[in-house]
Amino acid sequence: MSQTKTAVITGAAGGIGKELAQRLAQRQVNLVLVDLNEDALKQVVTDLKLDDSNSLIVTADVSKEEDVENYVNQAVTRFGTIDYFANNAGIEGPSALIEDISVKALDLVYHVNVRGVFLGLQKVIPVMKKQGYGAILNTSSLAGLMGGPTVSPYIMSKHAVVGLTRVAANELASFNIRVNAVLPGSINTRMMRQIEQNSGNSDQYKDSIESTIPMGRYGEPEEVASVMNFLLSEEASYVTGSLYTVDGGMIG
Ligand code: NAI
Repeated sequence: MSQTKTAVITGAAGGIGKELAQRLAQRQVNLVLVDLNEDALKQVVTDLKLDDSNSLIVTADVSKEEDVENYVNQAVTRFGTIDYFANNAGIEGPSALIEDISVKALDLVYHVNVRGVFLGLQKVIPVMKKQGYGAILNTSSLAGLMGGPTVSPYIMSKHAVVGLTRVAANELASFNIRVNAVLPGSINTRMMRQIEQNSGNSDQYKDSIESTIPMGRYGEPEEVASVMNFLLSEEASYVTGSLYTVDGGMIG
């Protein structure tokens, strides 16, 4: 098990993805960093002091099958294996009552958060089956377990990620491939800033959300990444089909 591992992270230019990349880099894991935002990906490489010997960036839209095929092929061509897969890219979607959500907005959230996660699994699984090993981590959300008003597309999409995780864990356990999901609560990233702005009053929204969190504050992306890092390691060798909430006590 001393051989260098390779991880693919989607949404790697975002708050949580970048923190996970940092943790995996500290373990000397080769990194394939995938995101729609090329400039932000380059910034991650600079910030984490990565170089060509241990990292590769791939600009991709995870909802497009050809882009997913491309990032998987590039990872295998460059590093030979995909040991860890963080299926993490996601968008927040619109905030409105069900009757006011446009079908276009619904489809966009579904394309990225569900189709993107499904396609990632579909293309990575054959690679992991061939190598006889792998750990996959899908990023769902507390919204994958709970309801709540005005964010139906996001909540539906993250429930779907929970279902997909359970199916994949069952299908893959006998192939020595583990599949789990991380379910963050309210985490201090760009996504949360956007949700605050969508509410119309960022400060008031933040206060109202934090008052419902037993720990009384948002989580930091590094607090999610440390749990993800554990699940993408041999320390979690008997953990599959699990849903890990990282939410300051919300669900408890
Ligand atoms: P973020 O907005 O900082 O990062 C998301 C990243 O995904 C961005 O870099 C973005 O460019 C990328 N992305 C978006 N659409 C894409 C596409 N079609 N193809 C490729 N990349 C795409 O947000 P954050 O917080 O780091 O989110 C990461 C994951 O965590 C998402 O799945 C999100 O739903 C989930 N999450 C976040 C929570 C939070 O409070 N921040 C709470 C629960 C879950």
